[in-house]
Amino acid sequence: MFKIVAKREMAERTVCEFKIEAPDIARKAEPGQFVVIRANETGERIPLTMAGTDPGAGTINIIFQVVGKTTALLRSFGEGDEIMDIIGPLGVPTHVEKLGTVICVGGGTGVAVMYPITKAYKEAGNHVIAIIGARTKDLLILEEEMKAASHDLRVTTDDGSYGHHGFVTDVLKQILDDRNDVELVVGIGPVPMMKFLCKMTKEYDVKTVVSLNPIMVDATGMCGACRVSVGGRTRFCCVDGPEFDGHQVDFDELVKRQRAYLTEEKISMDQFMGGIPE
Ligand SMILES: Cc1cc2nc3c(=O)[nH]c(=O)nc-3n(C[C@H](O)[C@H](O)[C@H](O)COP(=O)(O)OP(=O)(O)OC[C@H]3O[C@@H](n4cnc5c(N)ncnc54)[C@H](O)[C@@H]3O)c2cc1C
Ligand code: FES
Repeated sequence: MFKIVAKREMAERTVCEFKIEAPDIARKAEPGQFVVIRANETGERIPLTMAGTDPGAGTINIIFQVVGKTTALLRSFGEGDEIMDIIGPLGVPTHVEKLGTVICVGGGTGVAVMYPITKAYKEAGNHVIAIIGARTKDLLILEEEMKAASHDLRVTTDDGSYGHHGFVTDVLKQILDDRNDVELVVGIGPVPMMKFLCKMTKEYDVKTVVSLNPIMVDATGMCGACRVSVGGRTRFCCVDGPEFDGHQVDFDELVKRQRAYLTEEKISMDQFMGGIPE
């Protein structure tokens, strides 16, 4: 059992952060890695990225958006409650090296996944420009943390309620037009955002890494649920990723596979909200 030692609600209660006692995972975890969580005995397994770790205190942080049954169930947990299983750290850590100028672009809850990666690129001696975006000001997360983790933070909102009025990719384009020293773009967020971002950086011929979020089941490379096509090859996101060369990813296939269980997910959420036992 894994105890929740702190809970924080964000983005108008659509996003939630837990600090969880998990000393073995905290000791080994590196930026870009994730855990698989099973909330209770009958719970499904869901992958969540570690948004931070404190090896000294033996804790890990996860930040999740409430999108369906399991994330709604998790949000109902409070400080002192226990999560049944947490497996990790999983996935290949982010390959961080000193490159020069790196742009880290996070959209929506993707900012949570981006935060430890941004910190790591700054600590490795890069000049880090971060761009974070949300639909509206109240849904923006981790602004202060991302400011500290980067040298230059730009903020966008789709509705113009805060920062630049528009998309993260508008600001990325301005920066790519203004400077020719960008060595790497890292993009993490909704699939349409990552797809568009990669299309743009390909035109500028700037290397781009994305973190993919297909459906995962075992997260050990055995079941094939998380398969993605990268450069025409089948890769398993749980063991070969989650980060891949964005210019090689088949995003259209990823979207189709993410939607494979929409009917079942809706039934499950309706039953949960209606209080029907599992
Ligand atoms: C490596 C990785 C890291 C992730 N990190 C984060 C994170 O830090 N924060 C965050 O908010 N979300 C993250 N996700 C997405 C998160 O796992 C899903 O939002 C969650 O599983 C939804 O479960 P649900 O029961 O609440 O919703 P459901 O109603 O079951 O599903 C909603 C949508 O979530 C996706 N999904 C459902 N089940 C799974 C599953 N077992 N594996 C992956 N995706 C699933 C599908 O696209 C689905 O349509 C990550 C996904 C991956 C693969
Ligand atoms: S989740 Fe089963 S192979 Fe990746």
